[in-house]
Amino acid sequence: MTRTIVLGTGHTVPARVVTNQDLAKLMNTSDEWIVERSGIRQRHWVREGERGVDLARGAATRALEMAGLDPRDIDAIVYASSTPDHFFPGNAVYLQHEMDMGRIPAFNVVNACSGFLYALQVADALITTGAYRRILTIGQEIQSTRLDKSDSGRATSVLFADGAGAVVLGTTDDPGRGVQGFDLHGDGAFADRLWVDGPGAMYHPPISQQQIDDGRYWIKMEGREVFKQAVTRMPESVETLLARLKLMPSDIDLLIPHQANLRISEMVQKRLGLRDDQVFNNIDRFGNTTAATIPIALDECVRAGRLKPGSLLVLTAFGSGFQWGSCLIRW
Ligand code: ACO
Repeated sequence: MTRTIVLGTGHTVPARVVTNQDLAKLMNTSDEWIVERSGIRQRHWVREGERGVDLARGAATRALEMAGLDPRDIDAIVYASSTPDHFFPGNAVYLQHEMDMGRIPAFNVVNACSGFLYALQVADALITTGAYRRILTIGQEIQSTRLDKSDSGRATSVLFADGAGAVVLGTTDDPGRGVQGFDLHGDGAFADRLWVDGPGAMYHPPISQQQIDDGRYWIKMEGREVFKQAVTRMPESVETLLARLKLMPSDIDLLIPHQANLRISEMVQKRLGLRDDQVFNNIDRFGNTTAATIPIALDECVRAGRLKPGSLLVLTAFGSGFQWGSCLIRW
């Protein structure tokens, strides 16, 4: 029986650091408000000219180094991003070309906050069915160019940020190791509670001056609805997955929740009855990088030695769609 294992991880964020004090110069906000509501102290935003593919390339290079592999050893790319550099093609094929990976297939997953988990399940299925042996899985976003940085967008724009995380996946024949299962869900009834309306191909033209004037290309979020559902759906999904595999929350060695908001992560931790040392958060330094939060956090944990052979790792996410779920990996 083939299982999917993690061979290497990496992450890259833009060099430009934006503190809460920097934001207070752009809009009517304060370090105190942002820290109290979200736990975020600083985030990284791209400078003009810096592309999402540049971030992904940095992350992928580090992940390949850790795995001891060359770009040509990769058989396929699964790339999660809701903020591609262009309307189409997605970023995966640019990464494939710029890293000289050969003419391998390059998949794009557009699922925002839960994007990395969805990409991981696609990659796991491609590996365990025998289609490919080594898959580069990316979570990457540039959210900073989609934020309304005026007072009217301040409840949303203080949260989001840019970055990329990469994971190189390979195989093992040991059924007790690697990816053990997923629990993924979606409910499109809530699609417009956390979304970017345009540009959209359904509009004639896809982007108009009226849409720009109305700010319909900014991220729009109903924060309270997101909070309410996030703190319910993530613990529910983790418990469902653990129960299916005959495990308990107390068995978890490390939970990496999507870094949406520290208050959400703290509530998820509380509802699962986990100790502080069982949960990892880094939103204070990176903000919410959407599909990139989990692979960035995973890379920090791996490099800090937080995962030992046999450790039980749980990843969970909730976000736009709404879409949510979890994944369990035996390290
Ligand atoms: N600075 C200062 N004041 C602000 C700011 C800001 N950045 N943003 C909003 N306010 C003000 C509002 O104007 C309002 O003032 P008023 O009472 O005078 O009208 C007050 O603060 C409360 O505003 P609300 O919008 O009601 O803010 P709320 O208390 O709901 O907090 C927040 C907003 C932090 C977004 C909260 O709803 C929340 O935590 N939601 C969870 C959503 C989330 O974190 N999403 C993350 C991204 S999505 C994802 O990844 C799943």
